[in-house]
Amino acid sequence: MKPPAYFYGTAWKEQDTQRLTELALESGFRAIDTANQRKHYFEAAVGAALAKNLVPRSELFIQTKFTFLSGQDERLPYDSKASIGVQVEQSFQSSLEHLGLDAVDSLVLHGPSQRTGWHQRDREAWASMEQLYETKKVRHLGVSNVTADQLQILCDEARVRPRFVQNRCYARFEWDLPVRALCATYGLTYQAFSLLTANQQVLGHGDVKALARKKNLLPSQLIFCFARQRGMICLIGTSSSKHMREDLVALRHELTDSELSLIDSIR
Ligand SMILES: NC(=O)c1ccc[n+]([C@@H]2O[C@H](COP(=O)([O-])OP(=O)(O)OC[C@H]3O[C@@H](n4cnc5c(N)ncnc54)[C@H](OP(=O)(O)O)[C@@H]3O)[C@@H](O)[C@H]2O)c1
Repeated sequence: MKPPAYFYGTAWKEQDTQRLTELALESGFRAIDTANQRKHYFEAAVGAALAKNLVPRSELFIQTKFTFLSGQDERLPYDSKASIGVQVEQSFQSSLEHLGLDAVDSLVLHGPSQRTGWHQRDREAWASMEQLYETKKVRHLGVSNVTADQLQILCDEARVRPRFVQNRCYARFEWDLPVRALCATYGLTYQAFSLLTANQQVLGHGDVKALARKKNLLPSQLIFCFARQRGMICLIGTSSSKHMREDLVALRHELTDSELSLIDSIR
């Protein structure tokens, strides 16, 4: 299935994860982002929400992640002494159990092992993800928290290229333009997180507020419209049913080229 334009993000929900995932599905979200990283996500609670069968599986897009040891707390989904390849397999098997699924739509490498470069551990993790892709238990691969240089190396080397890139998207860094440009080159879809929290200066900018008033929208809705029309999937992790409704309404609005350029110009 074509991935929906908005994903519901389940990070930092803890004991509210199941309730909020159900609320997101009831509100109209059809894609869910999680990770097998108990430090920030509660994947088994996402699975408990999916088990309610509020939406047929065929209409859902479920994405999870493999996280290296450095990003985990003591609640590991794999044997820390196993090879990286085996850690990826064990993490993925545990994700399937948490989610109660036979396959996921997307498996994302949560971040490379180091801030720069693409190293042996990244290659081992990606090779193991490629093997899972070949079993068809993973429909697409993705990578997160990457620089353009890292993404370029991965695209050059991979047997199976990523289908998704998930990054924090800062207006002050041209909305991650170098990474988005590479995505365009290789036909990858960019998933943006922190669209609101990383861009408070855009939300509070006088021109954005004036445009929002003119369009009868909220500044937050303008940002989501802008991101969607620039080809990004928006990750939304709100805990508010009002915000879920507002964000989904933003999907139905279109900004003109000059309105998009105005938002693009704010740093
Ligand atoms: N790959 C990674 O490393 C990574 C890192 C961070 C996040 N993510 C993913 O991205 C998802 C979203 O994370 P995020 O960093 O973008 O932030 P977020 O968790 O979505 O937080 C958004 C914040 O903005 C507030 N807000 C106000 N108006 C809103 C509106 N209309 N819609 C949405 N939020 C509104 C929310 O408060 P209310 O709850 O009151 O609405 C919340 O405090 C996460 O759940 C996770 O799935 C991935």
